[in-house]
Amino acid sequence: MLDAPPPISADDDARRERYVEVRLRIEALLEGEDDWVSAMATVVCELHHAFDYFDWTGFYRHARPGWLHVGPYQGGHGCLRIAFDRGVCGAAARERRTQRVDDVNAFEGHIACATSTRSELVVPVVTPQGRLLAVLDVDSDAEAAFHEVDARAIESLCALLAERFADHALAEDEPLTR
Ligand code: SME
Repeated sequence: MLDAPPPISADDDARRERYVEVRLRIEALLEGEDDWVSAMATVVCELHHAFDYFDWTGFYRHARPGWLHVGPYQGGHGCLRIAFDRGVCGAAARERRTQRVDDVNAFEGHIACATSTRSELVVPVVTPQGRLLAVLDVDSDAEAAFHEVDARAIESLCALLAERFADHALAEDEPLTR
């Protein structure tokens, strides 16, 4: 059993180091695991408890064409499903691009699952074949909580998951042609 590290919200170098530790823990925990839900649950648990500015951490799975369904997650209750044309999560799914929002009140169409949320980071989980598996949504009660270092580290983690669990993508999802 691995001990959880203490939370952190210091400078970027400290964050970067923490991501290296968290990544190693996740890789160790997921070794040999082929269950997609167990993998997602482990990732959100590890991330959520490693950073004190992560107030809601969770996946929205691309479970039906054009729709994101919540879970697994950590934090307060999250909206059950989100259409691709709504919110920050919808934008990440539609554009298949990371959304880093410093002030959610300034984001047109933001869905307020928790009124305390001030900033968020949403990273799409896209398979090497270009299919959307899910988005990973992290919300903070602090304004501009997420930096480039958070975005890059979480993108790299999502790329690992997308490659590993690519066969869970919806068959009817149209791969994005770039
Ligand atoms: N804020 C998100 C919705 C999900 S929750 O905050 C958990 C959005 O606008 O996509």
